Amino acid sequence: MTIKEIFETMDYGPAPESAADALAWLVDMGDRFGHFINGEFTAPGDGFDSKNPATGEVLATLSQATQGDVDAAVTAARKAQGPWAALGGAGRARYIYAIARLMQKHARLFAVLETMDNGKPIREARDIDIPLAQRHFYYHAGMAQLQDSELQGREALGVCGQIIPWNFPLLMLAWKVAPAIAMGNTVVLKPAEYTSLTALLFADICRQAGLPKGVVNIVTGDGAVGEMIVNADVDKIAFTGSTEVGKRIRAATAGSGKALTLELGGKSPYIVFDDADLDSAVEGLVDAIWFNQGQVCCAGSRLLVQETIAEKFHARLRARMDKLRIGNPLDKCIDVGAVVDPVQHARISELVGACTEGDIHQAAIEMPASGCFYPPTLIEGLTPSDPLMQEEIFGPVLVSTTFRTHAEAIELANNTRYGLAATLWTENVNLALEVAPKLVAGVVWVNATNLFDAAAGFGGVRESGFGREGGWAGLMAYTKPAGKVAKLAPIAAFEGSSSEMPDAIDRTAKMYVGGKQARPDSGYSKPVYGPKGKLLGHVGIGSRKDVRNAVEAAAGAKAWSKTTGHLRAQILYYIAENLSARADEFAARIDAMTGKKGGKAEVEASLDRLFSAAAWADKFDGSAAGVPMRAVALAMHEPVGSIGVLCPDEAPLLGLISAMAPAIAMGNRVVLAASEAFPLVATDLYQVLETSDLPAGVVNILTGPHADLGDTMAKHLNLDAVWSFSGADLSAKLEAASAGNLKRTWVNNGTAFDWSKDQSRRFLEAATEVKTIWVPYGE
Ligand code: NAI
Repeated sequence: MTIKEIFETMDYGPAPESAADALAWLVDMGDRFGHFINGEFTAPGDGFDSKNPATGEVLATLSQATQGDVDAAVTAARKAQGPWAALGGAGRARYIYAIARLMQKHARLFAVLETMDNGKPIREARDIDIPLAQRHFYYHAGMAQLQDSELQGREALGVCGQIIPWNFPLLMLAWKVAPAIAMGNTVVLKPAEYTSLTALLFADICRQAGLPKGVVNIVTGDGAVGEMIVNADVDKIAFTGSTEVGKRIRAATAGSGKALTLELGGKSPYIVFDDADLDSAVEGLVDAIWFNQGQVCCAGSRLLVQETIAEKFHARLRARMDKLRIGNPLDKCIDVGAVVDPVQHARISELVGACTEGDIHQAAIEMPASGCFYPPTLIEGLTPSDPLMQEEIFGPVLVSTTFRTHAEAIELANNTRYGLAATLWTENVNLALEVAPKLVAGVVWVNATNLFDAAAGFGGVRESGFGREGGWAGLMAYTKPAGKVAKLAPIAAFEGSSSEMPDAIDRTAKMYVGGKQARPDSGYSKPVYGPKGKLLGHVGIGSRKDVRNAVEAAAGAKAWSKTTGHLRAQILYYIAENLSARADEFAARIDAMTGKKGGKAEVEASLDRLFSAAAWADKFDGSAAGVPMRAVALAMHEPVGSIGVLCPDEAPLLGLISAMAPAIAMGNRVVLAASEAFPLVATDLYQVLETSDLPAGVVNILTGPHADLGDTMAKHLNLDAVWSFSGADLSAKLEAASAGNLKRTWVNNGTAFDWSKDQSRRFLEAATEVKTIWVPYGE
């Protein structure tokens, strides 16, 4: 055969990778695995088989962890955590580096084992999963080294429960374990039941690296074991998996004080504009949806192609699909391997089988005679509301539709409950940089797709979850502000019976919604008394309808998010100026309400917080990560959106300003529920806001019972976050109610916040989402 003929037929012979070493390792380990607890493998217990999905062959038997196993793992992790943290960042860096080196030395064993266990092509396991997992440990060895100097004031959370899926078994382990142990936490990790083998090999590596006992513990089993970890005495849960289970975990951990990060599903758009390099975009699409058989949370599973080039693009795509090679995943020439398990195969078949609209094209390729294989599939001509356009299929199935204008492309792209990733292809740099910020997603790839690196944050918005993994942002999720927290002492409003008018002329404090004073929808008000029972005024009893009006007003003030940090700083300074002009009046109001003499200092501190927020408004910037490829990953700070805040009683003005100022500095709009015990200082504030050039709807102030207002806020689909510093501990209720749309929450869990200290940075972080935008860069 001539070379020309070979290129024409592209007929490759098989190039299988040997399974011998991986099989030998399994035999060495006894083919039956217990758990890895306190630095040792436990005796195997009752369990289940782990199979190779390409052949159906049983690879090993795994143990289903019992409650006793999970408890033992958590106890070991708890005991190890103090000494591990006390080693210091530099001490831990040595161990993490040793793990990275050992993973590198055993790279091929990891790759082959991963391929056999998961069904992914060896080419991917060898060239992507395993090197990226190593890179994560190298990178975080560095982060541990830098922790003491660069992350002063933050410390480890404690014991982290980590639950991972089956699509990137070792890589997801690396994303979870490396940052956790780098920051001084210890972990109890559960791999997915279909794919636990590389996690057990990793446990072996930890042993070889001499990692102190109990720092990494691995328990195997199904969702029931996951639930045990969620309910265990751990300080954080990090989960990657389906949105459905993510919501269950949110509800289960509500009010527990456990930190939570969720990396969930997606239906990520893949946008091809008419000026794109079409061949590259087709190749990108192969990576977007046929990489790992489409079992990728950020898979570009929704193709949006400009109408003028749609026919040409689809034709090239179909031609490319028909050249994909599917088969033995251990064969180095294979493009598409096996789906992880017959259960997943059945789920994909069922979803595609239910498709009644659209044209289905399945790659005209030779399928393996047996094994868990699903052909690359393209479905064209679906309407945007079709279930297949909205639901995550998690298989090698691409759905496609067309758009006419750029605006329509953006609208279609964002027409989803998810917000994990998005890809766009155009040769026009202006268009790319105009569209990228408008896509509602945690990650955007420009003229590339499915790029990952330890230095670049990864994670979603909306129902794709919250928290970031990777980069500096990822470390926030494994650390907390250092120091002890005090219990919050509830403050009750003063009682009184006096009906004496507070002023010569009655002035009933109104709420402030959409830039206007607003009466409560309920038509009810309640008196506010001073410490000696003197009537100070009345405030409206806000209810559900008032929250809705305020959220609507906040939504209407969207333009605020597009203003510059410089402009927002000017307005914050102006608010400070106007508050300062009335400082005595506000101080007197605080003193009259609280019966203390702290008003003057509180106003002074509030002015200071306004100045801090103004200072940060044009400085709390993103960064650019130097990733090891021909690209740069921009970590852009975006506002969260509309934030509901239940303001504290301990510092009725300072607490409100401390939350409001950084939130609006970052371009958010806020709905503030005034302190329940001392609301009048918040209602006075509207006069300051009104005279400070703040656009209507950016700040809305309600009064009324926090329990009712908070509940409506937590359930409202158009509020993006809820923060509660309420005197009544509503944390459990708010977090449970927020599970519906996975709203971001920041609640006090009955602990006090030190309002006397400027902690603007914490608010700025809670007020921003990191969007990672990957753009081609350099040679
Ligand atoms: P899953 O979300 O049930 O499993 C992920 C992990 O969570 C596994 O380790 C599992 O054992 C554990 N788990 C299950 N139920 C749990 C519970 N109640 N509490 C704690 N842990 C629990 O995903 P599954 O069933 O394997 O796949 C179903 C669908 O989920 C897929 O078809 C796909 O659409 C989606 N999925 C998305 C992933 C992503 O990365 N976004 C990863 C895996 C699945």
